[in-house]
Amino acid sequence: APSDPDLVERARAARAALGQKAFVLGHHYQRDEVIDFADVTGDSFKLAREAAARPEAEYIVFCGVHFMAESADILTSDAQQVVLPDLAAGCSMADMAEIGQVEEAWAVLQDLGVAGDTIPVTYMNSSAAIKAFTGRHGGTVCTSSNAEVALRWAFDQVGGTKGVDGTGKVLFLPDQHLGRNTAVQKLGLSLDDCVVFDPRKPDGGLTAQELSDARVILWRGHCSVHGRFSEQNVTDIRAQVPGVNVLVHPECKHEVVTAADHVGSTEYIIRTLDAAEPGSSWAVGTELNLVRRVAREHPDLQVHYLDKTVCFCSTMNRIDLPHLVWAMESLAAGRMVNRIVVDADDAHWARVALDQMLALPG
Ligand code: 13P
Ligand code: SF4
Repeated sequence: APSDPDLVERARAARAALGQKAFVLGHHYQRDEVIDFADVTGDSFKLAREAAARPEAEYIVFCGVHFMAESADILTSDAQQVVLPDLAAGCSMADMAEIGQVEEAWAVLQDLGVAGDTIPVTYMNSSAAIKAFTGRHGGTVCTSSNAEVALRWAFDQVGGTKGVDGTGKVLFLPDQHLGRNTAVQKLGLSLDDCVVFDPRKPDGGLTAQELSDARVILWRGHCSVHGRFSEQNVTDIRAQVPGVNVLVHPECKHEVVTAADHVGSTEYIIRTLDAAEPGSSWAVGTELNLVRRVAREHPDLQVHYLDKTVCFCSTMNRIDLPHLVWAMESLAAGRMVNRIVVDADDAHWARVALDQMLALPG
């Protein structure tokens, strides 16, 4: 539905009053009414870099989810304040890895004598505490746009024999699908090289042999939005739309990614459609706000949603125009609201892991 014109006017006025003092970041999964007020839009990697590159902004208003705002707080100076317009905008995947569980998993690897040959690689979609764990253990953060480079880098750090074909292991947190898809599709490891560590089970539900043989230990986490796409969706759309190009996010299940034609981050999805042949057909498997926006921006393409029953990311959608207006008006009136602050020790070690990601080649 179109936004309330009064609210749009108030948003304009508040944005103008804040001027250079504020910088508004918008993730691609945000609602149109919010994206309209973003100074920059991007995938989580681009937004992390943008936040780090705005030392002049006193306020970073992050239209995205909690872990993104935490990362922005970690990457910006102490003088800068990061605001999340609705504190209930979390991420169900990030919530699937709690620091206590991850410490316990590490203790299992230590008891087995393999922790020394294991390095954590942590998806951006995780709490600051998990990123800090990663930094403390010499690992790196990654996003969906640099997971391949991050995994290759990680395998070069550990093991008696280093490298992808060596003997080291990666503990991949918390998205099993991104970890598996990258290890198998991009690095050429086999499905048998990957095991899933289930934090609800003793020893992750794995035998000592399985843990010693594994090259990639995947945390049992997933995205509730992308996890709903199925291989059947791909089969169905190919039958309905001859010649369709299937383009999906790597948070989808392995069989979906294998059946698709193109796989990549939200930024990659946008770039691919920007470069697509006029008149071509596309079925896109990612969050609906983004798919609808690219469909509207590309009337020359036939853009289909990979599964019509899959919905928005409900937590991304919590940031709406009323929340954004409230946050901006409060800041313009000199009242701090919804500030995201990571405690100093976690921030230090999480920054080590985030800086490692930003230093990766490419
Ligand atoms: P990217 O923006 O990195 O593609 O990530 C998608 C996502 O699910 C963020 O929560
Ligand atoms: Fe988290 Fe999935 Fe929503 Fe991204 S789309 S914020 S991974 S729940």
